[in-house]
Amino acid sequence: MKHFLDLADWTAADLQYLLDSAVTLKDEHRRGGNPPLLKGKALAMVFQKPSLRTRVSFEMAMQHVGGYAFYLSPQEIGLGKRESTADIARVLGGYVDAIMARTFDHQHILDLARWSPVPVINGLTDYNHPCQAMADLLTIYEEFGRLEGLHLAYIGDSNNVTTSLLMGAAQFGMKMTIGSPEGFQPKPAALEKARQLARGRLDVAVTDDPLAAVTGADVVYTDTWTSMGQEAEAEQRRAIFPPYQVNEALLSHAAEHAIVLHCLPAHRGEEITDEVADGPQSRLFPQAENRLHAQKAILVHLLGAGGAADDEDDQTEQTEKKPKKKGKKDKKDKKK
Ligand code: CP
Ligand code: NVA
Repeated sequence: MKHFLDLADWTAADLQYLLDSAVTLKDEHRRGGNPPLLKGKALAMVFQKPSLRTRVSFEMAMQHVGGYAFYLSPQEIGLGKRESTADIARVLGGYVDAIMARTFDHQHILDLARWSPVPVINGLTDYNHPCQAMADLLTIYEEFGRLEGLHLAYIGDSNNVTTSLLMGAAQFGMKMTIGSPEGFQPKPAALEKARQLARGRLDVAVTDDPLAAVTGADVVYTDTWTSMGQEAEAEQRRAIFPPYQVNEALLSHAAEHAIVLHCLPAHRGEEITDEVADGPQSRLFPQAENRLHAQKAILVHLLGAGGAADDEDDQTEQTEKKPKKKGKKDKKDKKK
């Protein structure tokens, strides 16, 4: 069984397949609707943090393919507080076909995946945001018709969104420059993981100079200076980050054809100006819409007939201590 926790867990070919499938599903949806590929399937959506895009796009994606999704608020679940993550995973797995969760601690999503009998999808943790990155890659792919060799510049706080973009850039052979102040740059472990994943194909540079990072970029990406859970640092961050604002002056150093992305919610006047967010190079709203299409592809792949949920190829690093399902080995042996 496969989960969707990190772009680094998937092969580049699988990710490309998901992007192509998202393009098809989007087209189909626009031409009158998707077939009921997940008829009767249910998705539980567990949230420890607020959400607009993730919650609504997952819910609509399930509806479009004949499935059903429901929201579980932090108050209801009390992940790791009212009840252990392992127990929640096993209880929910008895009711639904997949679990999507948004947590603070990345370990919580890993624990859910370790114990869940159904696929788990990462809807953002403090460490990464892989579904967002899939929508971002889809938006870039639609714009340029390719990913390999494109220059993605990320400006601002190196956060969960940056981690997933880094893994995406590594998987697709993109060039990535990161312009973040010292102390807010990607963790060496994330950079090392991306480098290993790219097997020499990742051209990544980290600098505290936003102008150097943005120069010649095909895609300019920014996100909030204060992520959910860091609210106590907001004042301190507001004093550090202004040189990293994506405004018209900074954008003028990117390629002329550059597009601007932001995962949203945006703090207009902080990390991005209105002129840029609403300007001709902005793709913020097509990008937000693409959450729907990218996630629908992930859901159909994980839950659809013959999908990854049936794969023999367990993601062992996430599930290594979990005993194999009874009978699975016999089935595999019979095939040989
Ligand atoms: N980009 C994103 O994940 O938005 P939400 O927090 O509204 O889900
Ligand atoms: N980095 C932001 C992303 C929100 C979608 C956060 O974690 O709050």
